[in-house]
Amino acid sequence: MKIFATRILPQAAIDLIEGEGFELSQWQEKRELTDAEFIENCKKADALVLAGGRKIGEEFFKECSHLKVIALFSVGYDNVDVKAATKYKIPIGNTPDVLSQATAEAAFLLMISTARKAFYHHKRIAKGEWNFFEPTAGLGINLFGKTLGILGLGNIGFEMAKMSKGAYGMNIIYHNRSNNEQAEQELDAKKVSFDELLAQSDVISVHANLSEQLKGIFNKEAFAKMKPNALFINTARGGVHNEADLKEALENGTIWGAGLDVTNPEPMDRNNALLDMENVSVLPHIGSTVKETRNAMATLVAQNIIAGLKSEELKACVNPEVYTL
Ligand code: DGY
Repeated sequence: MKIFATRILPQAAIDLIEGEGFELSQWQEKRELTDAEFIENCKKADALVLAGGRKIGEEFFKECSHLKVIALFSVGYDNVDVKAATKYKIPIGNTPDVLSQATAEAAFLLMISTARKAFYHHKRIAKGEWNFFEPTAGLGINLFGKTLGILGLGNIGFEMAKMSKGAYGMNIIYHNRSNNEQAEQELDAKKVSFDELLAQSDVISVHANLSEQLKGIFNKEAFAKMKPNALFINTARGGVHNEADLKEALENGTIWGAGLDVTNPEPMDRNNALLDMENVSVLPHIGSTVKETRNAMATLVAQNIIAGLKSEELKACVNPEVYTL
């Protein structure tokens, strides 16, 4: 059995896959594959490890319907046409839970960095601007006792809420389709409408999957409903916010600051004006970039591949309906 991986994988995945006697081929170049290269490699394989957010839709599944399993090196699966995968009876694996703490930590890091303008102050030193003490310059804002609003209170949102409550005694509100009883009991979190989330939060942190419904939901209208001192933190997907509207909201003082681990598009252009704003912190989509987390993701990816190739149910599957067809 042959597996093609679109990136070089952590050793943990290689060991598990090769330990089963399967043949793993990994894309070695530090550039994205062209469409032709991607299809050519997939055609030679029985299974695919898809890392890096490449979009795969109906056309791909039609052409590569022979694949027995696709394992994503991510928890997010907005790049995959899941309906089409199911139609061609291909199970899609992902990596939930194992990256929740690391991703929440990235959101927490962006919240503090933005509140204290840390990236801006760091850049001042590099530019030779660490001059004399100014009591009124470069001031941040306080997070203690403020309200954190979470959009999408699943595992990652829960970890972010827990850290924020523990560190700053933040009051937690959230907007979700379903109730999160654990968060309500352990963190005294309150479920609110989307408009209430916008109006009441001092910090909004996005932890939802990118669905059609959520595409561009943080637009001019939404930012206008937020507090002028509010921070917008997004570690989920850049498609959730409209970047031009965000820039305008920050320039006009409609909101106070933004911390982004995900941008729209990715990668962000190095000349993007957001990178020069005092109250903005941007990271290059590094939510899960922690040694232990990446090893755990790699293990889950390999387990999904091995299960798929043995015609067993995947450990983490985004389209379990594929087994009841
Ligand atoms: C995920 O796992 O979905 C991360 O955002 C990386 O894509």
